[in-house]
This record gives sequence, C-alpha cells and structure tokens, in this order.
Amino acid sequence: MRATTHRVIVGGSSRMTEIPDGTVELVVTSPPYPMIAMWDGLFSTVDPAIARALDQGKGEEAFSRMHAVLEGTWREVVRVLRPGGIACVNVGDAARTLGGRFEVFPNHVAVSHAFRRLGLHSLPTVLWRKPTNKPNKFLGSGMLPAGAYATLEHEHVLILRKGGVRAFSPADRLRRRESAYFWEERNTWFSDVWTGLRGERQGTARASPGRSRSAAFPFELPYRLIAMHSLLGDTVLDPFLGTGTTMLAAMALGRDSVGYEIDGVLAGEIGARVREEFPGLARPGEERLASHRRFIEDEGARGRVFAHRSRPYGFPVVTGQESDLELPVPEGWTETAPGSFEVRYASERVPE
Ligand SMILES: C[S@@+](CC[C@H](N)C(=O)[O-])C[C@H]1O[C@@H](n2cnc3c(N)ncnc32)[C@H](O)[C@@H]1O
Repeated sequence: MRATTHRVIVGGSSRMTEIPDGTVELVVTSPPYPMIAMWDGLFSTVDPAIARALDQGKGEEAFSRMHAVLEGTWREVVRVLRPGGIACVNVGDAARTLGGRFEVFPNHVAVSHAFRRLGLHSLPTVLWRKPTNKPNKFLGSGMLPAGAYATLEHEHVLILRKGGVRAFSPADRLRRRESAYFWEERNTWFSDVWTGLRGERQGTARASPGRSRSAAFPFELPYRLIAMHSLLGDTVLDPFLGTGTTMLAAMALGRDSVGYEIDGVLAGEIGARVREEFPGLARPGEERLASHRRFIEDEGARGRVFAHRSRPYGFPVVTGQESDLELPVPEGWTETAPGSFEVRYASERVPE
C-alpha cells in the first residue's frame, strides 16, 4: 500500500485554516471535558466569564459557556468533513459540587445537541464502560437513602454523520473491500457497550508538564473507530490531539491523519511518542490475524464450514465481504518536517 502522511499542528482547532472544506472522512477525538476541574483554567483563558461563574457557584452558566467554547471547534469539524463523513467524539459527563450543590453536568447531551444544531445527524452511540479500581466508591450519603448516587464508570462515544450515507466511486470500491474487518470483530466492535479496551494509559506515562495534563484515551478506542468508520488512505482528523493517540492508531491502520493541539509541550512530545511506540504499531494487526486464526480453528472444531476464503491470506472467512481484507503492516517512518511524518508499509503480506 502507499505511504501515509501525518501532521501535528500546534494551535487551537477553532480555526483549522490548514484544512480545506469537505476533505476529511473521519474525525476521532476527545475534547477537554467541561466542568472537570483540570480544564477550568483552559476554558477560562478563552472566556474569563467562566472563572467568575465558577467562583460564584453558577454551574449552569459555566457549563454552557464551556460548551460555547467547544462549539467553535465543532463548527470547524462540520466544515471540514466531507459529505457522508463521520465524527466520533469521546466525552464523559462531569459530577461536581458547586455552591454547595452536587450535580452531574451531562456533557454528552450538550455535545450531541451542538452537533445536531450544526447539521450533523446522530447515529447509534457507544457506551464505554471504563475499568474501575474503586468498586465500593460511593458518592453522597452511602447506605442512607435519598442522597446517594451511582458511581460514574462510563463515558460516551457519540457518533454523528454529515448528510446521508457515504457514496463510493467505482475506484473506491476495492479500497473499501480491502478495508473490511472480520465478521467476528464486527460483532464486538458494533456492540453499543465497550468494555476492557486494551492499551489503557494509567495516569501519566512520563513525568513531564505536558503528560500530566494529557487525559489520553486507550489506543484501542481510536483504533477501533478508525477501522470501523474509514477506509485505507482516508484522512482522519483529531482536533484535540493531546498525546497523539489518534495519530498513532491512524498510522497503524494505513490512514492519513492531521491533528491540532493547543499545548505546545504536549504537541512537541508526539514525535518522541512515535519514535518510542512505532516499533509496536504492527502488533495490533498481527494480533487481529492471530485472533481470527483462533476463531477459525475453534469454529472448525465445532464443525462449522466456511464458504469463503481470504484472497491475501488464504485462510477461511465467514462472509464474502472479508475476502479482500488486508491489514497494513507499518514498516518505517520519517519526520519530513517538524511535526510531519510519513509512514511506509511492508509490501508483502503477513506470512501465513
Ligand atoms: C482530553 S485531551 C485529548 C487526549 C487525547 N485523546 C490523547 O489520547 O492523548 C484534550 C486535549 O485538547 C487540547 N486542547 C484544548 N483546547 C484545544 C483547542 N482549542 N485546540 C486544540 N487543542 C486543544 C488539550 O490541551 C488536551 O491535550
């Protein structure tokens, strides 16, 4: 397959002037979460009335002003998406006590409303059930009723589309077939509750000022979303790039990517992360192939007969839609300019 390109842009994503209208197939992102204290300062820098509202215990005002700040980026996301393009937004709700009152600020509702106002259409969403190490955590009055609260152990992945279902030219049809996923992956990935995602980054991998504010999502989250909603060679945008997890997943999956990060320290560390983690980027594909082989063996042992065969790999597959599926094998990378990367892929297939 051809090389892919990846670009980190240091700056705010409320003006993505580097990206022309209608040129992005997929957006995968996680914004700073409104009403989560670690982001108060960032939101207040853009709109100082937010700090005042928080000081005065005016939660509703702070919440809606923070979402107004995010809306600048969402407007740009809608502009750069191509017709039929998809936006996947990971966001969690915020539980907070302000002015002596405990409440939950439903970020997923506000982000969903913002995109719908801007003209995108909602698709079925995913609930990401996060692993918890605090099974007995109580909020509120503990064992006494009418003042205790469920522990928030999930986040949302909103999925929205610009216009109707994407149209594919005859030239795109083979690329689409090569970008397929396995039948058994489909059954897990398209469930609406995700648990046990791999690659969770607990806290901060390295003690640097940037990393301590990263709030990175697990690698598997953008990896799945990119595999599910885009084609090989498509362009994936992350307007809140953080440590660059979406970019690494796009590299692993043979998609181009571009991302904005306002924190220059974090953005500057993405190159180091690519250097560190690139050697492992072929592994998710290898694991998927190994897992498919186990699936075939297990099902074969139960007497299942497969009517289709993979052309690149030779092993059986459940449906004809999987017969041209081919997973890219990242082989090497170059930093072509500061923050710009080119990734090359092995031309031969993973051996049987
Ligand atoms: C929740 S984190 C994203 C983490 C990322 N998904 C990862 O895996 O590392 C949100 C990021 O958005 C950045 N950010 C906040 N406002 C921004 C803006 N207007 N434009 C670009 N980046 C912004 C923050 O500095 C932070 O790194």
